[in-house]
Amino acid sequence: TRVLVLNGPNLGRLGRRQPEIYGDTTHAELAHRCVEWGSELGLEVEVRQTNHEGDLLDWLNTAADDGTPVVLNAAAWTHYSLALWDACAQLTAPLVEVHISDPKQRAEEFRHTSVVEPHAAVTIAGQGIDGYRQALEVLASATP
Ligand code: DQA
Repeated sequence: TRVLVLNGPNLGRLGRRQPEIYGDTTHAELAHRCVEWGSELGLEVEVRQTNHEGDLLDWLNTAADDGTPVVLNAAAWTHYSLALWDACAQLTAPLVEVHISDPKQRAEEFRHTSVVEPHAAVTIAGQGIDGYRQALEVLASATP
């Protein structure tokens, strides 16, 4: 089964960006591990990251057309993008929401809502990079 792992804004700087919150694994290392974890689970994983909201919407629209399962860390867009809400709502294959930190436990009130959560089969938060492995496990057991 083919699976997309989609990462939103500022996640390209993983490893350098607030490591006290997001850890020291880089995005390239994360992508590599997701591909490895996927192959152990029999999934063909492709990892993408963008700082441009339209890219993410296009990828989600194609995933909807193709029935592709998605692991999504939409980063800050999670908290306010209504276009992202609509893009997630139309997905047909399972969607798993991932956050490296646990936004609901963080001080900023704006992090406490998610437009992705209503459409996600599962939300995994606060597990660091391992959350992506857990998300792939969920998809491996949810997909034929
Ligand atoms: C994040 C949490 C979001 O609140 C934040 O805007 C991010 C990363 C996470 O993975 O913990 O950019 O999605």
